[in-house]
Amino acid sequence: MKMFMGGQIFGAGVIIVSFFLLILCGMVCGTDSDIFCLKSVKRTLDDPYNYLQSWNFNNNTEGYICKFTGVECWHPDENKVLNLKLSNMGLKGPFPRGIQNCSSMTGLDFSLNRLSKTIPADISTLLTFVTTLDLSSNDFTGEIPASLSNCTYLNTIRLDQNQLTGQIPANLSQLPRLKLFSVANNLLTGQVPIFANGVASANSYANNSGLCGKPLLDACQAKASKSNTAVIAGAAVGGVTVAALGLGIGMFFYVRRISYRKKEEDPEGNKWARSLKGTKTIKVSMFEKSISKMNLNDLMKATDNFGKSNIIGTGRSGTVYKAVLHDGTSLMVKRLQESQHSEKEFLSEMNILGSVKHRNLVPLLGFCVAKKERFLVYKNMPNGTLHDQLHPDAGACTMDWPLRLKIAIGAAKGLAWLHHSCNPRIIHRNISSKCILLDADFEPKISDFGLARLMNPIDTHLSTFVNGEFGDLGYVAPEYTKTLVATPKGDIYSFGTVLLELVTGERPTHVSKAPETFKGNLVEWIQQQSSNAKLHEAIDESLVGKGVDQELFQFLKVACNCVTAMPKERPTMFEVYQLLRAIGINYNFTTEDEIMLPMDTGDADNLEELIVAREGHD
Ligand SMILES: *[C@@H]1O[C@H](CO)[C@@H](O)[C@H](O)[C@H]1NC(C)=O
Ligand SMILES: *[C@@H]1O[C@H](CO)[C@@H](O)[C@H](O)[C@H]1NC(C)=O
Ligand SMILES: *[C@@H]1O[C@H](CO)[C@@H](O)[C@H](O)[C@H]1NC(C)=O
Ligand SMILES: *[C@@H]1O[C@H](CO)[C@@H](O)[C@H](O)[C@H]1NC(C)=O
Ligand SMILES: *[C@@H]1O[C@H](CO)[C@@H](O)[C@H](O)[C@H]1NC(C)=O
Repeated sequence: MKMFMGGQIFGAGVIIVSFFLLILCGMVCGTDSDIFCLKSVKRTLDDPYNYLQSWNFNNNTEGYICKFTGVECWHPDENKVLNLKLSNMGLKGPFPRGIQNCSSMTGLDFSLNRLSKTIPADISTLLTFVTTLDLSSNDFTGEIPASLSNCTYLNTIRLDQNQLTGQIPANLSQLPRLKLFSVANNLLTGQVPIFANGVASANSYANNSGLCGKPLLDACQAKASKSNTAVIAGAAVGGVTVAALGLGIGMFFYVRRISYRKKEEDPEGNKWARSLKGTKTIKVSMFEKSISKMNLNDLMKATDNFGKSNIIGTGRSGTVYKAVLHDGTSLMVKRLQESQHSEKEFLSEMNILGSVKHRNLVPLLGFCVAKKERFLVYKNMPNGTLHDQLHPDAGACTMDWPLRLKIAIGAAKGLAWLHHSCNPRIIHRNISSKCILLDADFEPKISDFGLARLMNPIDTHLSTFVNGEFGDLGYVAPEYTKTLVATPKGDIYSFGTVLLELVTGERPTHVSKAPETFKGNLVEWIQQQSSNAKLHEAIDESLVGKGVDQELFQFLKVACNCVTAMPKERPTMFEVYQLLRAIGINYNFTTEDEIMLPMDTGDADNLEELIVAREGHD
């Protein structure tokens, strides 16, 4: 008996050890895999114009493949492929299966080549995380693989100008993130999938052999019902009983009704909301008694049945809707992304989040669970996101320096509170200027805190890059792509990027001031400016020369400290808050409810000490 138990424990130990080995291997071996991938691509493809000659693998420098023609890496010093863009190179050969070893690749562009044979049937296992797939203008034959519908991160599929045959897999319409689908100029037949609005137009299907169904003018209806009647007639001729015939006809009408209903619903694009019929009396659990009681029906009315026009934002954790109650109260309702967590786990997280309250956090007022759907109800923030204020659609940003500084200090305070004073400590994992909301007085409030833990494991790492086509990429700390482990230091890097946005007025992913040839993000540009001793040129000109240049420069320095490549060299969030508060000491920003912390330092005089203390610390 004892021995048997010992064996079990030993077995468990082996499993745990091999699990860690797996993780280690994922971190260490990942880059060899990508080199193997590119070697294999080069070997498989016939390259008559020698575009891939520059792919020289006799080099041990970490990141050397990132200089290859057509290769984009996650990080220039790491052999890890982000995108492969081999367009218009006259490449020939079959689809190179070796790309499966570029296991973190998110974009593949083979357009305008002479690739032939079929698209692999198991493409979903070759391109697990791909968001953009462009195989247009090649010589691919055969069918569009049904497994493509398992590449759930796909935003864009372009297969036009090939010789593809057969039907388009109907399940492609289930790809949750698909924004563009195009198969024009092929030999496809049959019914086109029922996509959400805007994904495919008639042009996306033009010049095929026989496609039908909306948005095309050829309806499929007649053909479908003809074949149905044929089946029924065949059954009758086969001498089946009248009862069975009745059943057949019943099913025929049932099928027709379903397809009719589908057509009616799809243009609305929120089928899921209709499926909540029958659950409308479910109560919304409220953390605050001050808000009148609500049920799901009230939320649905207030959001126009979660209508598209009520969407005010879509992020990694879900979609946010504007809700106006019958008494005129404005709220925000977040529909969470589907998650594998049980209802029990969700409720326990809600218990924690409901008690997390701070002046610089968006208050969570309540939540509601209905079938598979989970909704969070937040107080409305009338001035929207910091991102939209900093980067307005039209015209330049009009925020003056005191306002930007006030927002930086307030947001730092909220995040410092999450890191240091909240129990359990909360790592945000998704800080950006889009999750900093502004109330009527432009007081910043951090949103989305605590939600990362409610997401599926995969969503907590890769979707940062995948969702929204790298929308948040500029904010992600470099070590994160290697370790995939969320740390407070990762939050600080992201927050530093927000600070850079505030002081430069530039977007994190694209720097308008930089020369055309510069391809990096805001942080990389700042680092380049810094090493060229041109840091001052990075500051937003609309702020310069108004007697605050000293503050601007100090602020920029704090931001630079936060985005240092080495996590250890970054300050803690508490330090960031104190440094910023010191810069804003001459303004009368509200300073009540200071965070209680182990260190009590806050005066401008202590700036140097703080930095020294930090260096001794980590
Ligand atoms: C390439 O991928 C295949 C399939 O996942 C795997 O079996 C193989 O070990 C990988 N090769 C390298 C060098 O990583
Ligand atoms: C290896 O690649 C790096 C980065 O592209 C380059 O600077 C270096 O010269 C290369 N070394 C050799 C031996 O080719
Ligand atoms: C898609 O993935 C599911 C689950 O992994 C699998 O059962 C199914 O066979 C896949 N479909 C295709 C067409 O590969
Ligand atoms: C298509 O989707 C349906 C329903 O979700 C599923 O039952 C079926 O297995 C899927 N087919 C393929 C080929 O993935
Ligand atoms: C369809 O084919 C015609 C004739 O080749 C061409 O002019 C037209 O641009 C094609 N349409 C699309 C959408 O590619």
